[in-house]
Amino acid sequence: MINVRIVSPDESVSFPAEKGRRLLDILRERGFDIYTPCGGRGRCGKCLVSIRGTGNVLSCSYYPDRDIEVTLPEKRVADILVSQTEFLEDCTFSPPSSLLSARPYGVAIDIGTTTVAMYFMNLLTGSLEKIASFLNPQGIHGADVISRITYCQEHENGLGELQQIIINAINNELELFLQQKDLQSGSIERVIVSGNTTMLHLLLGEDPVPIALAPFRPRFTGKQRTEGSSSGLNINPRGELITLPCISAYVGADVVSGLAVIKPVHRKYLFIDIGTNGEMALVDGNRIYACATAAGPAFEGGSISCGMAAVNGAVSYFAGPEDYRVIGNTEPAGICGSGIVDIVAYLLNNNIIDSTGLLKSPFVVYPFNRIQVTQQDIREIQLAKSAIYSGIKVLLKSSGMNFEDISALYLAGGFGNYINTGSAVRTGLLPSGLGNRIYAIGNSAGIGTLQYLKSEDFAEKLDRIVSVTEYIELSDSDDFITEFVMNMDFRENG
Ligand code: FES
Repeated sequence: MINVRIVSPDESVSFPAEKGRRLLDILRERGFDIYTPCGGRGRCGKCLVSIRGTGNVLSCSYYPDRDIEVTLPEKRVADILVSQTEFLEDCTFSPPSSLLSARPYGVAIDIGTTTVAMYFMNLLTGSLEKIASFLNPQGIHGADVISRITYCQEHENGLGELQQIIINAINNELELFLQQKDLQSGSIERVIVSGNTTMLHLLLGEDPVPIALAPFRPRFTGKQRTEGSSSGLNINPRGELITLPCISAYVGADVVSGLAVIKPVHRKYLFIDIGTNGEMALVDGNRIYACATAAGPAFEGGSISCGMAAVNGAVSYFAGPEDYRVIGNTEPAGICGSGIVDIVAYLLNNNIIDSTGLLKSPFVVYPFNRIQVTQQDIREIQLAKSAIYSGIKVLLKSSGMNFEDISALYLAGGFGNYINTGSAVRTGLLPSGLGNRIYAIGNSAGIGTLQYLKSEDFAEKLDRIVSVTEYIELSDSDDFITEFVMNMDFRENG
């Protein structure tokens, strides 16, 4: 055995550990949270800890054979977007036709790959009594859906583990709410969940592996209902857990509920949720075209050398070395997706890179913490932005529309909230033709799921969206490949 001493800003503790075991596992077992976007595969370089006398090491590739003192990085708090915005509808409340308890509650949950938002609603009055949000704790097994599916493939009980992780996290929040309101667990009667197709499979313990393998047929896409007693959740046993319908393996219930809650101001619009999978839909009156494009983790900081999620310490806005913003107003610790797009736009505007993305030497963003952008980072952004823009072009072609026909581009989720549209247009991530019609709409998936609790009529809306949506698979689309190659350069498009 060896002795491990942990030094963190919050506490210092020592404990024995088995010699030669992986440090990441030792730390996790003791409840220390380490950011591991690649799921501990030694690829992302983000799980750094400092070992006294040795320096920085990747905790996922370090196997200590002597006593060590480990300094952990500062904990980062996510800024999770949860509230209603002017672009989203708020249904009139109609109480459920039957209730099971005297003080009944419902909970709407949006399970994102990165973050989870929970909305607690009184089922007698329709009042929203609490919103809770937290980072998805499954992130310890990878930042994106493919890493988590791979974890299920590679570990005998991987699916069971991932399911339990999310159920425990939800139960913790339910418990907290019940305590705060002095309620029994029978009071939670309905739990409605949206999320991408993989997150819903993991919640229900359904094998997600078919999602990652051609022909990409998930175990289910329709709405699923589970009795409270067999849901694993601490809710009324006669209550219900409902997961909302998805469209395909990579266009999930988050898109369906998001589309359903957008105010019907325009007949023709684009909806994009930029994450590791750029999920997008083009609404053309009564028809919808949808696709998902593998943007990779660059916009979530995953494949960028100094990248990080949109948490405290991330540079989220950059207009020059003297003009930048950091989430939480702290010293810069890294760069999140919106920050890196701003930096690329700055490099283009100042001729530090040309339209092919050639960077002669790393660009220093903040010298004190050695935060910089490298040539490889620029290449990652090129791939990601081309994937998103090319997806948009394929949707347009499928629908027969042009940019001029589109009245609005709605950006859902956290990235949409932070992104500077000028930079997104300058880099060619988003079309210049829509530059003055791009709107950040917030967590449309969460607010949409809440509407399902408020009004039983909302279910029909979801079903209608699924029935009128034509899904376009990009992995075998020649149009997409052509566009992807053509849009690799940084230039204003469309
Ligand atoms: S390199 Fe260790 S988690 Fe990615």
